[in-house]
Amino acid sequence: MILALETSCDDTCAAVVDGPRVLSNVISSQAELHERFGGVVPEIASRHHLELVNGVVEAALGDAAASLGDLDAIAVTRRPGLVGALLVGVSTAKALAAGARKPLAGVDHLQGHVAASFLEPDPLEPPFVCLVASGGHTLLAAVRSHDGYETLGETLDDAAGEAFDKAARVLGLGFPGGPAIERAATDGDPGAFELPVAMTRDPGLDFSFSGLKTALVYLARELDAAELERRRCDLAASFQAAVVRQLTVKLERALDAGDWRAVSLGGGVAANSMLRERAAELCRERGVELKLVAPKLCTDNAAMIASAARFVEASPYPDYLDWDASSR
Ligand code: KG4
Ligand code: ZN
Repeated sequence: MILALETSCDDTCAAVVDGPRVLSNVISSQAELHERFGGVVPEIASRHHLELVNGVVEAALGDAAASLGDLDAIAVTRRPGLVGALLVGVSTAKALAAGARKPLAGVDHLQGHVAASFLEPDPLEPPFVCLVASGGHTLLAAVRSHDGYETLGETLDDAAGEAFDKAARVLGLGFPGGPAIERAATDGDPGAFELPVAMTRDPGLDFSFSGLKTALVYLARELDAAELERRRCDLAASFQAAVVRQLTVKLERALDAGDWRAVSLGGGVAANSMLRERAAELCRERGVELKLVAPKLCTDNAAMIASAARFVEASPYPDYLDWDASSR
C-alpha cells in the first residue's frame, strides 16, 4: 500500500493505492483562487498547498481506512512543476516518511500521467502509445515498460492545455480554460471558423499550438464586443476542434509508424469529451485497444503518482532527507 502526494501545480492531492486499486484519491483544487488572475500564480499556489496539505493527507488515509503504519512506502512528485509548490509536497512527504521510518519514492509527474493507465478498472499493460496532453506538456510516449517511456514527439511551443487556457482568456471564459471551452463548445459549431491545424504537413510527431492561439487572438480582435459575445460558442467549438484535430492526426501518425496494439490518453486535456470520442473512432477504425482513463485520473491527482511509484525503487530512511524538487 502506497500513500502519494502531488503538489506540482495548483491542486493539492493525496491518494492511497494498493497495487492497481485506488483506495482513496483526494484532490483539493485551488482553481477558484487563481481564476481572477487568469492562470496559476506560483506563490499563491505554494501558500495554499501549505495550508491544505495536512488535511488532504489525513482525508486520503481516512478514506482508505489506513494508517501510516500500514504503508509499504510513501511517494511524492519531485519534478517537473512549480518549484515552490513541489517543495511543499516533497517536504511533507519527507517528514511523514521519516517520522514513520518508511521508504520514500520520488516520482516524475509525466510518468504519473502515463501510469494512470496502470490503474483499475481495466489496467492497461505495456506496450502502448500514450498521448499525454496537460497544461504544461504535450507529448506522444512509447510506453514499453512500467517504469519509463520514450518520447516520440512533443510540443515545440505551447502545451495543448495551455492553449485551451489562453484561448479561454481571449474569449472571456474563465480558468481553467479546457473545461470552460468544452462547455461553451457544446452550443457552438466546430465548422464556423477555420482555424489552422499546425504541423499536419510536417512529417514528424511534434506538435505546435502557438499559431492557433495567435489566429484566435486575431479573429477575436476583428469582432466587436457584441459580435464576440454572439459568436463565443462558435469560436470555442472551432478552437476545440482544431486542437483535437492536431492531437488525433499525430496520434494516428504514431500508430502508422509502429506496430501498436493499444493506446491510452493522459493529462488534463484527456478529460476532453471530443478528444475521447475522436480517439475512440480512430482506435475502432484501426482495431486498436483504447484505454480511457477516468477524467478524475486524467487531471492532476496523486493516485497516478502512487501508480508510478509501484515501479520506482523507493529510498530507505534516511537517504531521502536531502531531496530537493526540480522545475524541469
Ligand atoms: O494534467 P493537468 O491537470 O495539469 C498539468 O499537469 O498541467 O492539466 C491541466 C490542463 C489545463 O490546461 C486545463 O485547461 C486542461 O488540462 N483541461 C482540459 C479539460 N480539463 C482540463 N482541456 C480540455 N478539455 C477538458 N475537459
Ligand atoms: Zn499534470
